[in-house]
Amino acid sequence: MNGKKCPTADARPGMKLAASIIKESGQVILAEGTVLTDTFIEKLKLLNLEFVEIAENTAEEAPTPLASVETFDAVYDDTLQVIDNCFSTMRYFKEVPLMQMKELADTSIDLMADTTGVLSYLQIVRKQDDYTFRHSINVAIISGIVGKWVGMSGEELKDLIFAGLLHDIGKTQIPLEILNKPAKLTPEEMKIMKNHTIKGYKMLLGELGAHESILCGVLQHHEKIDGTGYPFGISGEQIHPFAKIIAVADIYDAMTSDRVYHIKRTPFEVIEEIKQETFGKLDPAICITFLRNILNYFMGAKVLLSDGEEAEIIYQRNHAYPTVCTRDGKFIDLEINRDISIVGFI
Ligand SMILES: [Fe+2]
Repeated sequence: MNGKKCPTADARPGMKLAASIIKESGQVILAEGTVLTDTFIEKLKLLNLEFVEIAENTAEEAPTPLASVETFDAVYDDTLQVIDNCFSTMRYFKEVPLMQMKELADTSIDLMADTTGVLSYLQIVRKQDDYTFRHSINVAIISGIVGKWVGMSGEELKDLIFAGLLHDIGKTQIPLEILNKPAKLTPEEMKIMKNHTIKGYKMLLGELGAHESILCGVLQHHEKIDGTGYPFGISGEQIHPFAKIIAVADIYDAMTSDRVYHIKRTPFEVIEEIKQETFGKLDPAICITFLRNILNYFMGAKVLLSDGEEAEIIYQRNHAYPTVCTRDGKFIDLEINRDISIVGFI
């Protein structure tokens, strides 16, 4: 990462480190790419570091538009209301309010996807209700983040976010007793459920603004690169990049949510699971990009530990077990102290 020397005294929250800060013992204190917070800057000053390497241009970047969980939550709730209405229109009137959804994707969802710390915010604003609506918004946001990580921008990125928002609209045509069944689906019910991909595709076919890439994202988001997915069992390069990104976002959000049939897991457990179990199913290049970036993403996040202490993530050598610093300045490597775990975000 290109960087310039910045006196530690001039370091400001929001600046990004262009080089890792490493102790003489070889221990990484803050990794390259970490976005500085007030706490990090305080720690750097305590270390008597004269300079830090700051990534070019980040110091002048616009401040995060949704700077607190409260403002984020307000925009998220408004978005949820609109999506709730859109899904009701689709279920009961068989009409797709595409322009309304497009506007939402281009404005509030784009804004949320661009918010520093959005993945932590999503953990905080999660509730058990309205799963389908929340999941659609979350997949749109997470797809936008992953899309940026793989180098997408402009109209392509906007289309990807829109496809993420639309990916499960076929579920509005699935009977509610199957969609909300609080138990494992029978093989027959599963067949009906899996049909949401084709139903969603057909709902969008011929609609103005539903480009081919958006249609592919909706139709193929359950395909697997080894050909074991549905609806067609296509593989590898036959699957559109939009569908591959939505698949990663879909799995990440589903695993970190409270569902009728499983209890949510922390992003750290999910990241490890994606790493271990879904290689071979998900696109490897997208998976590697996702895992590499998410490693830095939660640096500085405030978390609640299983022993009731509040802490901040300061280093992640292992995805599932980061090192944290408690409020009273105690460093805990969760990989070594396996009896303590992260139970939530604060
Ligand atoms: Fe789906």
